[in-house]
Amino acid sequence: MSDRATFFKSAKGPKGKFLTGNLDAFRSDPPVFLQQMAEEYGDVTRFRLGPLKKVYLVSNPDMIKQILVTKQQHFVKSDDFKVLKPIFGEGLLTSDKEFHMKQRRLIQPAFKKTHIIDYAQDMINITKEYLSTWKDDEERIITQDMMNITLGIICKTMFSMDFKEGYQVVGKPLETALKLTVKRMRSVIKLPLWIPTRTNRETRKAIKELDRVILEIIQKRRNDPVKYDDMLGILMDARDDENHIGMSDKQLRDEVMTIFIAGHETTANALSWTWYLLSQNPGVEAKLYEEINTVIGDKEPTPADFMKLTFTQNLIRESMRMFPPSFVTSRKVDKNVEVNGYHFKKGDMILVSQYVMHRKAEYFKSPESFIPERFENNFIKTIPQYAYFPFGGGPRVCIGNHFALMEAVLVLVSVAQRFKLNLAPNHHEIKTFPSITLRPRRGLRMILQKRKTTDQ
Ligand code: HEM
Repeated sequence: MSDRATFFKSAKGPKGKFLTGNLDAFRSDPPVFLQQMAEEYGDVTRFRLGPLKKVYLVSNPDMIKQILVTKQQHFVKSDDFKVLKPIFGEGLLTSDKEFHMKQRRLIQPAFKKTHIIDYAQDMINITKEYLSTWKDDEERIITQDMMNITLGIICKTMFSMDFKEGYQVVGKPLETALKLTVKRMRSVIKLPLWIPTRTNRETRKAIKELDRVILEIIQKRRNDPVKYDDMLGILMDARDDENHIGMSDKQLRDEVMTIFIAGHETTANALSWTWYLLSQNPGVEAKLYEEINTVIGDKEPTPADFMKLTFTQNLIRESMRMFPPSFVTSRKVDKNVEVNGYHFKKGDMILVSQYVMHRKAEYFKSPESFIPERFENNFIKTIPQYAYFPFGGGPRVCIGNHFALMEAVLVLVSVAQRFKLNLAPNHHEIKTFPSITLRPRRGLRMILQKRKTTDQ
């Protein structure tokens, strides 16, 4: 019994440098590095990110299902999320175990179907208002526009604020805090926030400002006799089944901040990648216009149109296949666990990558081609579960998945009804930039071309 290797499979991987391991290769292009690892070493590969940080990449759908779903109680969120704690607090994305489950139960009602339909009308209105300043032939930074639109939508659905107010009050301090947090996340040595380096001081200041702003909004609401039916109103009314206690101001702050951040950058990136892919695939673009002409025509889209926009839904699914905004999901082993003959020990870090799985030729024919039609006829049911999982899975599956798909579809058709977007001439080469989410490196510059609804 002394030699475990005879009983458990052992993962193979590249040797790496003495001190940094494979950190340099990983940091230069994380999605591509992960893809190469999976191609070279198979279902489970092992490498090092730094002197001590041993990481396993698991690229087999059945094993991913065990990690995210059937054996999920053996795992917790990885230490990477700790860097995000100063900003997310103990919100859904960073909390674990019973506390996470309790919070999830409290928050889930804010995402039920009837509420999403209410939010859908806001999505349409905000996009329409935002587009009112767009002009024919204009060059725009579309990545920034998509971020502004989704920020506007979350400001409205969460706080009933319009875009300008939302951006001034919440968006600006949030942008600063996020930028600094990402800078800290990407640095090799993450000094504790209390050490007064310049970045740490700036980060603390930005987070303090954000805390002040959100807590002020919450306290104002506590004293307001008006009943709000926005997301904050629903979260403030939520009561625990057992003791009927609602969330404290601090917990509300953490959940609001988490939903706010998780809920706008991801969808903005999904939309930006979709615009890029459409500009490179005129056949797909023509089919999008055809569907818009048939389902919506000249009128404003309505929430009910969403169900009829099946090609557009598949277009978003396909865009998230090629460029999953959440390109990797990490977990830390909390209790020793065996998965398909591999033994993972407490403290091990496990990665499962949407980018890697979504580009496997065994599940997706011509994986490098943009083919929304592949999602027709219940395609997802014909491939193994967790070969495609843009929203994660199990008890921690994205709580905003229906919100996100509704939002991406309605924003996309609202823009495409009015404009065709072409990549600006002499555009820099489009590459991925893995921040917290996968975005186009150095943004996307596009030229607007006004459409008549009869255009194909
Ligand atoms: C295209 C858009 C989106 C993508 C690709 C996406 C992806 C994901 C993924 C992969 C996870 C699981 C992370 C993990 O297991 O570690 C997640 C969790 C989460 N997402 Fe999303 N998301 C999107 C949009 C949204 C929206 C619109 C909201 C809210 C309005 C949202 C709120 C959250 C929250 C709160 C969690 C944590 C859930 C939990 O752990 O219980 N997301 N998302």
